[in-house]
Amino acid sequence: MLALKDVVLVKDNKTILQIDDFHLERGERLAVIGPNGAGKSTFLKVLALLEPPTSGEVFFRGEKVTGKNSLDFRRRMAVVFQEPLLLNTTVFNNVAQGMYFRGITGAQRQRRVDYWLERFGITALRHRKPLHLSGGEAQRVSLARAFVLEPEVVFLDEPFSALDFSTRLELLEELGALLANTGVTTVFVTHDFNEIPYLTDKVAVIDQGNMVYKGGLKELLAGEVTVPAVQRLLEPFKRSGLIPG
Ligand SMILES: Nc1ncnc2c1ncn2[C@@H]1O[C@H](COP(=O)(O)OP(=O)(O)OP(=O)(O)O)[C@@H](O)[C@H]1O
Ligand SMILES: [Mg+2]
Repeated sequence: MLALKDVVLVKDNKTILQIDDFHLERGERLAVIGPNGAGKSTFLKVLALLEPPTSGEVFFRGEKVTGKNSLDFRRRMAVVFQEPLLLNTTVFNNVAQGMYFRGITGAQRQRRVDYWLERFGITALRHRKPLHLSGGEAQRVSLARAFVLEPEVVFLDEPFSALDFSTRLELLEELGALLANTGVTTVFVTHDFNEIPYLTDKVAVIDQGNMVYKGGLKELLAGEVTVPAVQRLLEPFKRSGLIPG
């Protein structure tokens, strides 16, 4: 579905991402974890075609991404960020927004928005402005806004980290069921191992701009991965009893 080949991203003379070879299969659900500043968001932005790499190649469904085709490809994906970034208009308009750019109008647009408002339990909020929403409600709007586009790939960058524990759990469960049902290809960035099992059993670890592991979550938590950067990342979780070890 997506691939990176010899990708390097340099900012302010510093290499912040270096991925030699990465493949994301169609229907794959991958969690991405790593310490603050590791390059997780940068990795996601490169994959979502929001940030062109300094060098190297990105492939979407086997086709090399170029300046010419990148916008077309980008419109087949959707991104949800930690901060919902909603427009100062109604919930309905916020969810409908991306469809204007994709030429989806009239009854079809209405039907899709209604469906996704219902699906995320925010139909009653349709006329409200984002300013008057709670964090959890705003994130539901943000999710509806992404899924209404019926994307081929969904990117989520720590979407629930600002939410309280029970709201986070609720949304993780809903999203997990949704992703399993739709089979949409997903990349989910988090800094918390405990969030991963709700969505997937596959994980990539990014450390200092490099992908130091991609594989099963089970193997990782079982301590079978001996890469020092992975051990360092796991250690505080184990010490605090958040994961067994
Ligand atoms: N536009 C930029 N210019 C310069 N440096 C940048 C830029 N964007 C990111 N960086 C640097 O690249 C590194 C990786 O940043 P990134 O946001 O990808 O990390 P992250 O893993 O998502 O971190 P966090 O867990 O805090 O969200 C950081 O050191 C950051 O300061
Ligand atoms: Mg980040």
